[in-house]
Amino acid sequence: MKRSRQVPGGRRRHSRRPLDRQRLYVRHSAASDAGGWSVEYDVDWDGIDVALARSQPEVLAQLRASALIESFHPVHLGRLLPAVADDVDATTVVALEMYEGFKHFHALRRYLDVVGHLPVITDQELVDIRRSASCEALAPDEVVPRLVRFMLSEHLASHYFRRLAARVREPVLRALLRTMAADEVRHAQGAFDLVAARVHKDSALVPVVLLAASSFRHFGEEAVGEVPVAEAGDAQAIRSFARRIERLCGVRLVDHLRTTLPG
Ligand SMILES: [Fe+2]
Ligand SMILES: [Fe+2]
Repeated sequence: MKRSRQVPGGRRRHSRRPLDRQRLYVRHSAASDAGGWSVEYDVDWDGIDVALARSQPEVLAQLRASALIESFHPVHLGRLLPAVADDVDATTVVALEMYEGFKHFHALRRYLDVVGHLPVITDQELVDIRRSASCEALAPDEVVPRLVRFMLSEHLASHYFRRLAARVREPVLRALLRTMAADEVRHAQGAFDLVAARVHKDSALVPVVLLAASSFRHFGEEAVGEVPVAEAGDAQAIRSFARRIERLCGVRLVDHLRTTLPG
């Protein structure tokens, strides 16, 4: 698909101010464009090997849980959005996550429908999950812990989709999961950059980040109870999880745990 670079509406205008490419929202918008893909046109829906997909029912069950988690973004990010309304970069990162998270949900649900997985995901099920959760906006002091939770959930999602892709036999799903894993890497980076900017401005947030990391729970637990994340003992996922925190705080998570845990 060829895309026009022309500004919609006619002649290209000369901007007086050069685009600040270091601006966080500019970088993340550009990365989103570069990694962009279409649920409609870039997934080979007609090429799905239904019998092969059905030969791995445990994979399909995990996809179903993942689709429900992705469908929960409007609640989990909806609570965050008003609390970061004064931060243009943050609202952009959250908006991109909402859109791309919706694409993940849409693609997974459609895949499950195509292969005839049961039980079918219904809109009522999605609404019931949302109704059972609080939709209250976060208080200001909850923002950084919630951004850390968002970052680490996305980080683990990238590992999870990549690992799952490695054991999926059906090629269309394998390709889809790899694409989604790459999206999650960007999403984790977006949240990381937001937390890093806040920590840079206020080093008193370091213990807040460490506490949020050490008491981490995936946001998807609110949607499905048990989240199919990176496999237990996925050493690579856990190491890189800890490295992210170290880069943010200048303190090793393991050292922090040693000094805070009893015994
Ligand atoms: Fe996602
Ligand atoms: Fe995501």
